[in-house]
Amino acid sequence: MTAKKASRVALVTGAASGIGQATAALLLENGWKVALFDANETALNAAAEALAKPKCSFVKRLNVADECSVEAAVAEAAEALGGLNGVVNSAGIAADKHVFDTSAELFRKMLDVNVVGTFLVAKAAAKLMRDHGGGSIVNIASISGIRGSKGRSAYGASKGAVINLTKVMATDLAPFKIRVNAVAPGPIETPMVKSVHSDEDRRIYHRFVPMRRYGEPVEIAHAVEFLLDERRSSYITGEILAVDGGFRGAGIFSDKQ
Ligand code: NAI
Repeated sequence: MTAKKASRVALVTGAASGIGQATAALLLENGWKVALFDANETALNAAAEALAKPKCSFVKRLNVADECSVEAAVAEAAEALGGLNGVVNSAGIAADKHVFDTSAELFRKMLDVNVVGTFLVAKAAAKLMRDHGGGSIVNIASISGIRGSKGRSAYGASKGAVINLTKVMATDLAPFKIRVNAVAPGPIETPMVKSVHSDEDRRIYHRFVPMRRYGEPVEIAHAVEFLLDERRSSYITGEILAVDGGFRGAGIFSDKQ
């Protein structure tokens, strides 16, 4: 990586879709340079084309769970964009299956992408940040990593692990001026949710989210940008910010509205 310190350069995994795509778009709109990573090359190229900011972005296919590729890809992005001081780990997979229907294979795959992938990207980026003045890492966790919703044995376990990984990395990396936080979204209208949530799930979420609606990807992106931005969140690290229409905090409330 070049010696000069970058002011606002972020890499976003899972940038071809949903929350990652909305975050990349918002960051570019607000003057960040952004490296877009995703395992789905076709979708990634389409997303990059839609963003139409070739001078401010770097685009590369990357499986975040591929240990052999992650470090080189992160270094390549930092070199191309002149540094790196922000990371958004949004790449992820989901499943809603009863514990009896959850195979060890699915469980391992979920941990590999959601936890090991997040760890590998965050660690590779942190090594670069350590040598260049620090930075901010934001992991996309989930309310499913905080509460025990049905069907989330593999997914919820992976997101619970992301939450504790966030806290541990925040502690280990604080001496290097690297902050690590997580956003825990509630139900957000993305391709992932459209494929996983049944009509019955949607009815249940509308019942249990006090704001009575799903969130939009850009509402997560704004929280992520806040946590990336050294000027606005400089003393926040190891924190898990729920962006969930009130789901995590809610006690009993009427279902008559
Ligand atoms: P999405 O499916 O729309 O986007 C996820 C992206 O990650 C896709 O483009 C996919 O190709 C990419 N991806 C999957 N595996 C990958 C891998 N091994 N390497 C690189 N890229 C990979 O999903 P969405 O909804 O945008 O989710 C983003 C993150 O937010 C995920 O971590 C998800 O668990 C989390 N989340 C989403 C919620 C929702 O309601 N949509 C709620 C809570 C958390």
